Amino acid sequence: MAVLIKGGTVVNADRSFRADVLCENGTITDVGEALDAPKGARVIDAGGQYVMPGGIDPHTHMQLPFMGTVASEDFESGTAAGLAGGTTMIIDFVIPNPQQDIMEAYHQWREWAEKSVADYTFHVAITWWDETVHAAMETLVRDYGVNSFKHFMAYKGAIMADDEILVNSFTRAVELGAIVTVHAENGELVFRLQKEIFERGITGPEGHPLSRPPEVEGEAANRAIRIAEVLKVPLYIVHNSCRQSLEAITRARNEGQRVFGEVLAGHLLVDDSVYRDRDFDVAAAHVMSPPFRSREHQDALWRGLQSGNLQTTATDHCCFCADQKAAGRDDFRRIPNGTGGIENRMEVLWHHGVGTGRLTMNEFVAVTSTNAAQIFNLYPRKGSVSAGADADIVVWDPEATKTISAKTHHQKVDTNIFEGMQVKGTASHTLSAGRVVWADGKLDVERGAGRYVERPAFASYYDALRRQARRAEPTAVQR
Ligand code: URP
Ligand code: ZN
Ligand code: ZN
Repeated sequence: MAVLIKGGTVVNADRSFRADVLCENGTITDVGEALDAPKGARVIDAGGQYVMPGGIDPHTHMQLPFMGTVASEDFESGTAAGLAGGTTMIIDFVIPNPQQDIMEAYHQWREWAEKSVADYTFHVAITWWDETVHAAMETLVRDYGVNSFKHFMAYKGAIMADDEILVNSFTRAVELGAIVTVHAENGELVFRLQKEIFERGITGPEGHPLSRPPEVEGEAANRAIRIAEVLKVPLYIVHNSCRQSLEAITRARNEGQRVFGEVLAGHLLVDDSVYRDRDFDVAAAHVMSPPFRSREHQDALWRGLQSGNLQTTATDHCCFCADQKAAGRDDFRRIPNGTGGIENRMEVLWHHGVGTGRLTMNEFVAVTSTNAAQIFNLYPRKGSVSAGADADIVVWDPEATKTISAKTHHQKVDTNIFEGMQVKGTASHTLSAGRVVWADGKLDVERGAGRYVERPAFASYYDALRRQARRAEPTAVQR
């Protein structure tokens, strides 16, 4: 059924303007003034509201097998929760076990994701290295539309990528025209600090942030940046939580390196006092890596977002319920790492970003949708309200208020890291591929309606890098 969104203000990353938006067969077919509704079309009155590209969460882990358990949120419930908050696409992660065939893991994740109710795509993690991995990377880029490879610099003894893996994988990514991404924490240092802290008798969740100080993150961010610089590969650093990693990114960008940074809504808005809660369940519910930090780091992250040195916002949505977190009751190292947030990212960023004047509405669209679409080569199919784009749209009511709570959220997890937060500005309607899937506070989703989205490799980054390398070549006279 066609849908006409009437009377709203379209807000894209580059500009805002009054226009109606017509959606037909899953696509935006017209954006213009006083559009007529085709016969039988559903008309949404968007008077006083903003019509924006649906959010893209570039970092989620639905039903991830991790630390001896499986994340409670699956692809169906997680994408549905996203739609309830205006997020219409996720980029999740295929994470092979060390020695597991990469293609086998990839197909396993594709099968798990078939029940998604919104569009999705995958970064693929490189957790080990041999010739089969080298070959699989090409297959993934060439035949399956994967253009980003992830490296966990933490989680020693599990999925950690050491420098040898980073160098091999980054080198291969250059050959294939892909972008590399890292979770930047020095896994050796974390391992050492965890042991020391545990042996000192600190066994509770308060040990988690002590074992992962900002320096550990700053070191890894710098190392990944310098390896990427030498190998000439574009780099995206996920979930920057502290001033140290932001400074590393800022320095590299000022030097002309193509480095991108992501920040989580949680790292912007939740501080490290949560780990000092006397209730194990409360503190453990916030155990994620890198941990939540002090106000000083939060302020730095907001400035990073405002200055454009951080380009995207995500959630790292990776949910574990209290009974799963309880695995680490006597040893913080065993608490499954991860927190949720996909349903709330847009509204908390609107409230604390646009509502406080830290972000313009256009910047809000950039950091919640358009920048991710551009960095991961989804644009303008995603991240734009324009004719020809997918009809993934959020109609935003800037006057609506709500109090966030695990009691009312749609996320399949028993806590909410934004519990009790009051926000002004929420999604009144969400469209996914042209269907109204969220309206009047109700979801109307279809299991399996989400599509896998292919992302071509990056001709443009690599053309630029080649031209830059040619410019740096010594001239005949210098030689
Ligand atoms: O604690 C986290 N972030 N869990 C999910 C895995 C990861 O490191 O992104
Ligand atoms: Zn991570
Ligand atoms: Zn993650």
